[in-house]
Amino acid sequence: MYKVKMGVIGYGNMGTQHVSNIMAGKVPGMELAAVCDISERRLDAVKKKYPQIPVFNNAEDMYKSGLCNAVIIAVPHYDHPPLAIKAFEYGLNVITEKPAGVYTKQVKEMNEAAKKSGKLFGIMYNQRTRPVYQKLREMIRRGDFGHIKRITWIITDWYRPQAYHDSSTWRSTWKTEGGGALINQNPHQLDLWQWMFGMPDRIFAKASFGKYYDIEVEDDVMAYFEYDNGTTGEYITSTGETPGTNRLEIACDMGKAVIENNTFMFYRNIISEREHNKINKEPFGKPECWECKIPVDFNGTDHVGILRNFTDALLNGRELLARGEEGINGLTISNAIHLSAWTGETVDIKSFPDDKFYELLCEKIKNSKVVKKVQQIVVDNSNTY
Ligand SMILES: NC(=O)c1ccc[n+]([C@@H]2O[C@H](COP(=O)([O-])OP(=O)(O)OC[C@H]3O[C@@H](n4cnc5c(N)ncnc54)[C@H](O)[C@@H]3O)[C@@H](O)[C@H]2O)c1
Repeated sequence: MYKVKMGVIGYGNMGTQHVSNIMAGKVPGMELAAVCDISERRLDAVKKKYPQIPVFNNAEDMYKSGLCNAVIIAVPHYDHPPLAIKAFEYGLNVITEKPAGVYTKQVKEMNEAAKKSGKLFGIMYNQRTRPVYQKLREMIRRGDFGHIKRITWIITDWYRPQAYHDSSTWRSTWKTEGGGALINQNPHQLDLWQWMFGMPDRIFAKASFGKYYDIEVEDDVMAYFEYDNGTTGEYITSTGETPGTNRLEIACDMGKAVIENNTFMFYRNIISEREHNKINKEPFGKPECWECKIPVDFNGTDHVGILRNFTDALLNGRELLARGEEGINGLTISNAIHLSAWTGETVDIKSFPDDKFYELLCEKIKNSKVVKKVQQIVVDNSNTY
């Protein structure tokens, strides 16, 4: 029987988890074919734990070996597109970790390479497997909410103290990570946002860089989104608040939906507010509203679910839950927030200026004064992502 022979690139926090899930047999139809890491110390850890698994200190050597028919890219962000492009050239199927890359210009090239290769391309947007977001998306698509007036997502439970920023040489610098809270922690929510509500048309944002930590990248962000149809959005995130909040609130013609504290509530107007407004004659009249608790699970199959879905797509032609090509959407929002915060201008998403963003990013890299001396260490992989 055909099997997915997976090569894992990067045996750090996330790669370790992917390897251990595959080795534990949690992904039927997928076997671990090889592991690659540029760190000899990390490769020694693989050899010790899984002596039977071939290891490589260079991704291209692993691609050439013929041992794999697919790879997972779990290395720092800038390297996602070049490693994926090379893998496609070798005829391999690819899952990339989030974010798709650091800047849209780079990710467009990766998407082109994926298309040209005809290979399967997935992205590790594990939160798409969570039933609560699937349910919300289904309700939006079915029209249960009517017109959406306002979306507010406060996602500040990504607390990361200084010790986290210091835990690896690549973290929290323009040159090696390409951003902070937006590019590392928030790709999941920015993806879910566009997956559920569609892409905003314009973004204005303010961000603080190194407000809470000794870092040069953003650790606190407030963004304002506009849609051509009148919907507005606020996106608030921080890695400096604890205890944080994860509250998604949707104000709509049919009432209000709130997802917070493992509860999904729909405060449902019996008629739409616009309809009510037409017929109501009382100065303070409101439509009757019912409190509905939507019965839904909050836990998804997450990383294992994405790997299973990828396997099912390769072996049985099933549709991918998270197509790699869609990674550019959340990244465009992230880049637009950065761009607006840097320039003070509103950014048009439909004609996002890829080159201008890249130029300004290069300036940040050039002017960076950060010298990271910390030895790369692998922190506990029980992080909640
Ligand atoms: N989906 C999720 O829930 C989730 C969670 C954590 C991290 N991530 C993502 O996974 C990626 C890796 O993050 P991490 O926390 O595991 O980082 P990490 O620093 O712990 O591990 C990265 C590993 O990649 C290796 N590496 C670096 N460049 C390489 C290259 N060119 N070829 C081969 N190996 C290379 C390093 O030696 C290191 O062992 C990032 O994109 C991160 O955003 C995703």
